[in-house]
Amino acid sequence: MNAKREQQTIVVGVTGGIGAYKSCELVRDLMRRGFRVKVVMTEAATRFVTPLTFRTLTGEPVAVSLWADEPDSKVHHISLAAEADVIVLAPCTANVIAKLAHGRADDMLTTTVLAAEAPVIVAPAMNTHMWRKDITVANVSALRARGFAFIEPGRGALACGDVGEGRLADPAAIADAVEAEAHRARDLAGVHVLVTAGPTHEPIDPVRFIGNRSSGKTGFAIAEEAARRGARVSLVTGPVSLPDPFGVEVVRVTTAMQMRSAVLARFGASDVVVASAAVADFRPATFASGKIKKTDAPDAVALVRNPDILAELGETNSGRAILVGFAAETSDIVAYAREKLTGKHLDLVVANDVSGELGFETDDNRVVFVSAAGTEDLPVLGKRVIARELLDRVARLLAARNTH
Ligand SMILES: Cc1cc2nc3c(=O)[nH]c(=O)nc-3n(C[C@H](O)[C@H](O)[C@H](O)COP(=O)(O)O)c2cc1C
Repeated sequence: MNAKREQQTIVVGVTGGIGAYKSCELVRDLMRRGFRVKVVMTEAATRFVTPLTFRTLTGEPVAVSLWADEPDSKVHHISLAAEADVIVLAPCTANVIAKLAHGRADDMLTTTVLAAEAPVIVAPAMNTHMWRKDITVANVSALRARGFAFIEPGRGALACGDVGEGRLADPAAIADAVEAEAHRARDLAGVHVLVTAGPTHEPIDPVRFIGNRSSGKTGFAIAEEAARRGARVSLVTGPVSLPDPFGVEVVRVTTAMQMRSAVLARFGASDVVVASAAVADFRPATFASGKIKKTDAPDAVALVRNPDILAELGETNSGRAILVGFAAETSDIVAYAREKLTGKHLDLVVANDVSGELGFETDDNRVVFVSAAGTEDLPVLGKRVIARELLDRVARLLAARNTH
């Protein structure tokens, strides 16, 4: 695992703030840490530091305009986005934060960020009043919910003469955050992760089924994040209306029995299984091959139990793969999660309360991680951020297992 580590590329985005001169120190620091650094600047940033400075420091061309003639004739914002292992925006203006929060892409820097799959770290720097403005606060929280990481600005005397929050964080602290993210960007290299997602549909006749409200968003976010971190990912999903995540083997199934076959076929090669699918516990005992007419409606639909796929994996696993289960409950969620953890021989259970507004179909969720080590209560987070937190724990469990 992780046998060869080639040099990682950090794209440093510099925007039009007075702190832009500190980006030179950040660039130097990242290079000293062994990264290849490419700089992209906004037009405003070039008023503060010249592209020549960064080109000289990095030995790489500096991207400013979307319309510049590139000698290698590649579509530069796309190639930059694809090359980036981590993107860091330092300093990041209120303006660029606002543009990113709304998905705007009207210059080289914002277009690159929008086109990138890499994690983005934002180090804001601005006047205290700009930083505290409710619109800026809302833009920052919108970006956080979408998985952008922020390095809070520091307090102190600002260039404008005000004293308060808004100063660009220390370049060394920014470089530390970049280094941690770069490590995370590869921490599942060579690991095979199997994810299940979505509901299952258990047919009554060709047009009717028993199902549930799972949207598959959490499982898809986990699959996408695992692939981003270098894992080979198979995603077995029930019927959902989500597009295939990039770089993931997607197997679309309908019923619990089909999901079981697809999972069992891949389990042997998997180092990690994250079972987030809401598999139907029951299926109709019989299937009518023609649509049941209204006039022939039965009084009741006889049900039979579906196999418990995760319990089956737990029984045969004997500690080989890391097994993660989900428990969506409406009461006593931790107690139930603990029961699931031991009963199904799991390493981690992600428990959440679906009695309120959060859970199925939402973009945010509040989860509790339950493992042999204890219980961790997380705040309300976006599903992408939850995926990241979950895979951090999985990476630690894998590391602990590999050292034993
Ligand atoms: C001297 C000077 C310093 C500035 N410093 C900042 C700053 O630290 N943070 C910020 O958000 N905007 C700052 N601005 C305003 C931005 O430069 C302005 O909003 C610009 O449109 C940002 O462009 P960009 O976001 O594309 O880089 C400053 C402007 C001037 C003239």
